[in-house]
Amino acid sequence: MSDIAISDIEAIRSRFQADIDTASDLSSLDAIRVSALGKKGEISMMMRGLGKMSPEEKTVMGPALNGLKNDVAALVDIRKTALENEALDAALASEMMDMSLPVSRKNGTLHPVQQVMEEMAVIFSDMGFSVAEGPDIEDDFHNFTALNFPPGHPARDMHDTFFMVPDSDGQQKVLRTHTSPVQIRTMMSQKPPIRIIAPGRTYRCDSDQTHTPMFHQVEGLVIGEDIHMGHLKGCLMDFVSAFFETDVDVRFRPHHFPFTEPSAEMDVRYERDGASIKIGQGNDWMEILGCGMVHPNVLTACGINPDVYQGFAFGMGVDRLAMLKYGMPDLRDMFAGDPRWLGHYGFSPLVQASLESGLS
Ligand code: DAH
Repeated sequence: MSDIAISDIEAIRSRFQADIDTASDLSSLDAIRVSALGKKGEISMMMRGLGKMSPEEKTVMGPALNGLKNDVAALVDIRKTALENEALDAALASEMMDMSLPVSRKNGTLHPVQQVMEEMAVIFSDMGFSVAEGPDIEDDFHNFTALNFPPGHPARDMHDTFFMVPDSDGQQKVLRTHTSPVQIRTMMSQKPPIRIIAPGRTYRCDSDQTHTPMFHQVEGLVIGEDIHMGHLKGCLMDFVSAFFETDVDVRFRPHHFPFTEPSAEMDVRYERDGASIKIGQGNDWMEILGCGMVHPNVLTACGINPDVYQGFAFGMGVDRLAMLKYGMPDLRDMFAGDPRWLGHYGFSPLVQASLESGLS
């Protein structure tokens, strides 16, 4: 005869139930679970004793012990959910934020990157552009292939791409390395004439004083029947003077991008004055953007007939333009989230950038 009886099982159940009901946190609950159901737990040891019982005892004690084990496990689960909910309620109560409170004029500021994106949107919308968007997690087709970077093309390596873990269907997505995939999405979903800018986050595996793994770009795209390089130049010249709020000389240098032909980089005239940089004067030139006429292969990939339509595109780094315009020395400070930095360089959220009243 074994040394446990059915009546003992009832007593053990009540004892564990009382312990479980009074467990005050998840770790003491887990200690109770281990003491009952762990490898050397009380109930596990009793179940091990089943092997030594006679067949008659086993038919009684087997189901009784199994029932005890399941009941205790269920009680632990119920208490666990209750404790988790209590912890969540406590966190929600202590971290509550009243979104209906008025904005504090003293503390809240607009980040310079946001400010500069809004300034760009104001300038380009005045020229008839609208704002387009695309996802930060892109597929290879939109980020590379449709932009005339065939698989294996060396220019792909220059993008220091962050690759995602492949999907279940084997597709490997990337964090977009530029905002140019929004060109593709726009051309595939809209008919020409097209005139858009696409501001957004971009990512490359790179970090130093002038590079951060996440940064911002604004892409531009114009497609129509008689668009030529003169339109591109005029548009970008008007843009920089409006953006820097002064007359700015520019210079276009031939360059190479897979998705444009011909391609160019645009420089602005500048001068270094001690630690600060003055755009629009001096004898030095600084590169601020890439541009070109959309490559026929890109138009074709998007279902647009290159014999009928042409267009131009451009792309620029928002963070760098913000640094140049507002005199911030280190790119990394932009994303450190230091309220003192934001207090100094931030903008009032209550003043809208506009061409009439001034951009900043
Ligand atoms: N996507 C380029 C980059 O990230 C920038 C760029 C250059 C965009 C030329 C354009 C363009 O649309 O025409 O380096």
